[in-house]
Amino acid sequence: MKEALLNRFYFFVGLIFLGLARVKFALKGYNQSSFSTLKMQNIVDYDFRVVDKWIKQLQLYTDGQDSDLIKGKSVLELGPGGDLGIGLYLLSKSVKEYTAIDTYNLIENTPSQFYELLFSKLADRSKSDIEFLKSELNKTLTGGSDKLNYIVSKDFDIIKAVAPKKINLIFSQAAFEHFDDINETIKGMSTVADQGAYFVAVVDLQTHSRWIRKKDPNNIYRYPNWLYGLFSFRGSPNRIRPYQYIDALQKNGWKNIKVYSDQSLSEELFNSTTKYLNKQFVHDRNEMNYLSIWLCATKA
Ligand SMILES: C[S@@+](CC[C@H](N)C(=O)[O-])C[C@H]1O[C@@H](n2cnc3c(N)ncnc32)[C@H](O)[C@@H]1O
Repeated sequence: MKEALLNRFYFFVGLIFLGLARVKFALKGYNQSSFSTLKMQNIVDYDFRVVDKWIKQLQLYTDGQDSDLIKGKSVLELGPGGDLGIGLYLLSKSVKEYTAIDTYNLIENTPSQFYELLFSKLADRSKSDIEFLKSELNKTLTGGSDKLNYIVSKDFDIIKAVAPKKINLIFSQAAFEHFDDINETIKGMSTVADQGAYFVAVVDLQTHSRWIRKKDPNNIYRYPNWLYGLFSFRGSPNRIRPYQYIDALQKNGWKNIKVYSDQSLSEELFNSTTKYLNKQFVHDRNEMNYLSIWLCATKA
């Protein structure tokens, strides 16, 4: 009884959070981070950490067989967020070129102090050619591009943005769960992926609203499509589950597809909430224990 009441409570509280997110989007558009000094330091560290973790995951996925996983490779990032730190860090690690595509231009207000901090931290970390990185950034921010490419595409048309270039590595961090149509996105990235290309993505499957994310991580899965759809906006979590990613990757010529858990629901929360989710998410194939996953695959 207590369990049923609590689940009912989260059903209604979750609706309030969905409503608040919808209103925030209507007022402010897709979220832009503010750049206080402390925040800038955190974002630089975050960018370094994301790339380091992608490389580590790639090493794990390839069993360490490929020694030069990123050097000389053409990299594509899907949904890079508010700055070009990841691209610059990858260039410092000798990738051949980096291209990022986003539907929202989130980098236009990034302050120059952010990049100054990034360059000073990069200089401390490695023997990077900072002048080269600065000139690449400058070209990109002034509308040109060379080895650091940032493309804003309203309809997120990957083929138009990237072809005829061929890509060796496709990365994405906490972005796939925001895409409108993951089948179209995977079709597009598959067209530009070279044979043997690797795909490594972290997908955050949980509720994104802050307070409720901790208390009831699978809250967004409580609602039928019609009700969830009332609060949806471009970029709100799409509720796509791991088996659907696997299916889309298989259909588009990817092999050795692996799903690794990045964060899981405790057994206690899984048992006390899953049967109260909307019926389409109750079946075992949804693997509702996964809160965040790594997807890895190789282009056949
Ligand atoms: C949560 S942010 C993640 C950004 C960055 N990768 C990070 O880890 O901080 C999601 C990214 O997906 C992009 N995005 C949101 N909705 C999208 C959509 N419908 N189609 C394509 N990209 C979208 C955003 O502009 C943003 O770059």
